[in-house]
Amino acid sequence: MNQFDRHRRLRSSKSMRALVRENHVRKEDLIYPLFIIEGTDIKREVSSMPGVFNFSLDRLEDEIKEIVDLGIQSVLLFGVPEHKDPEGTEAYHDHGIVQEAIRKVKEWAPQLTVIADTCLCEYTSTGHCGIVKNGDVDNDASLPLHVQTAITQAQAGADIIAPSSMMDGFVAAIREGLDQNGFNHIPIMSYGVKYASAYYGPFRDAAQSAPGEGDRKGYQMDPANRREAFRESQSDVEQGADFMIVKPALAFMDIIRDMRDSLDMPIVAYNVSGEYAMVKAASLNDWVDEQRIVMETMVGFKRAGADLIVTYFAKDVCRYLEGDY
Ligand code: PBG
Ligand code: ZN
Repeated sequence: MNQFDRHRRLRSSKSMRALVRENHVRKEDLIYPLFIIEGTDIKREVSSMPGVFNFSLDRLEDEIKEIVDLGIQSVLLFGVPEHKDPEGTEAYHDHGIVQEAIRKVKEWAPQLTVIADTCLCEYTSTGHCGIVKNGDVDNDASLPLHVQTAITQAQAGADIIAPSSMMDGFVAAIREGLDQNGFNHIPIMSYGVKYASAYYGPFRDAAQSAPGEGDRKGYQMDPANRREAFRESQSDVEQGADFMIVKPALAFMDIIRDMRDSLDMPIVAYNVSGEYAMVKAASLNDWVDEQRIVMETMVGFKRAGADLIVTYFAKDVCRYLEGDY
């Protein structure tokens, strides 16, 4: 052993470790997803996601207050409508559940950045992200509906549009639709690198959006593929994406790093529902230390190259950051 091998010098105390820490999680990095359900007086816990709720609009204000008080600065809104049909009409209704939620949140907390998830799967009776024709999602017939959804969300006051359908050309179509309607100042956060994943299971309980027939492998990416992520993200960049989401996050840390190194835009890691559910289940059993597992995971996303993190743990992370983690 020579003198250069004394690595433990820089680990000798808490303050020494803090001094040389390379990556940090900040409250500003966090995006908190919320599920707004049609109806009244509802605050219902999602069975597969302890600590995550469906809120009706009349129960949402207290939650928004709590979120703001904790220091969260961005939320991602999903709507859960009462009525579903093959065309997902409620997704692009001027007074649809998510449009109304956007209006309310901006009224209660104008400083909060409101990101609207733009997709049809919570609104279609098929549970697919577009219109189904002859047993398949029809790409080009679905695009105008996504565009209309984005426009109504922007009209309601959304600060960022986050299209998640993985239709080809969805970013270009939405960019054009927004621009033509006076919203060229609104950024697009594209779910451009989205894998067909079993980790979305609990979300589909929360959003009541499991596909009735078939799966999403015809439009979401194959988890075995890395090069495909470069192709997908490249077309989104060309079409005008402002942020790139990689989703899921934990099994795709290499892809987060690839996107960080190949793109010059903010990279967003989506720590999805199944990742949340696994940690929750283990910690409710006292098999793992929830706070330490969560913070290790979050800083892992940052180390992998994420600038921002969408996570159902956002409120907990804010509390942990206040303490001594
Ligand atoms: C809608 C959408 C999904 C998620 C975010 N937006 C579901 C899906 O594609 O099936 C998943 C989020 C999560 O699992 O936390 N397309
Ligand atoms: Zn969808």
